[in-house]
Amino acid sequence: MPSTKTGQTWNTEAYAANGRFVATLASDVVALLTPQPGEKVLDLGCGDGALTEQLAATGAILTGVDASPTMLAAARKRSARNLTFEQHDATALPYHQQFDAVFSNAALHWITGLSGQQAMLAAVHQALHPGGRFVAEMGGHGNIAAIRTALQATLAPFHIDAEATAASFFPSPDLYRRLLEAANFTVQSIELIPRPTPLPNGMESWLNTFRNGVLDHLSPPAYSENARATAITNTIALLKPILCDADGNWTADYVRLRFHATANN
Ligand code: BEZ
Repeated sequence: MPSTKTGQTWNTEAYAANGRFVATLASDVVALLTPQPGEKVLDLGCGDGALTEQLAATGAILTGVDASPTMLAAARKRSARNLTFEQHDATALPYHQQFDAVFSNAALHWITGLSGQQAMLAAVHQALHPGGRFVAEMGGHGNIAAIRTALQATLAPFHIDAEATAASFFPSPDLYRRLLEAANFTVQSIELIPRPTPLPNGMESWLNTFRNGVLDHLSPPAYSENARATAITNTIALLKPILCDADGNWTADYVRLRFHATANN
């Protein structure tokens, strides 16, 4: 993922077991990219490279970039002639006008704060040929709102501000359009898409995989041995009436922000 500044860490086995839907639900943003054989595409926040490998199967020449060494180690087990992986922070990419397109799925919301987003957008613009396209999907305004509210409530007694600690960036289309235009992009399309997402392994696995940057604060010696487990139990109890059906099937309240922008000269 793009940066480790949120405290989130990535266990590749847990991600493969509990987060594979992130790549499998990406068909709409891949269709918006329409990768062409031979064109150079940067996959920003490529994670374990599952989607990068799929994009390379179209014949495009893919460079996957991620800040997580564990994710990159998993990605580098994938091999194809037109597929390479490099470790960089998304806010400090070393590329100059060498890509036809920059693509990103479910990664940009990990870049914290307006200044981080502005630095990333400048680095993406610099990486693209003039006229090159930036096509991405990320968490948008209202993303995982019920989960965030439940975490905020269950962590408050532990004096942890879950929202401030997670520091995720879930912008509205209006705000992100302004950021893209300020970074010298023309916005071709940008939309907010509610996408309730089934969690086959349930909410506990999701919390342990995608919210460990918050939950890991509840560790000894600052907290008791069972503080983390208690917080997870309480969070799940709060979420059950809204995100779990009568058969015990869990759904996460994802909202996507999907956009296509082109780099001005
Ligand atoms: C997301 O893909 O929107 C997301 C996943 C985990 C935590 C936060 C956001």
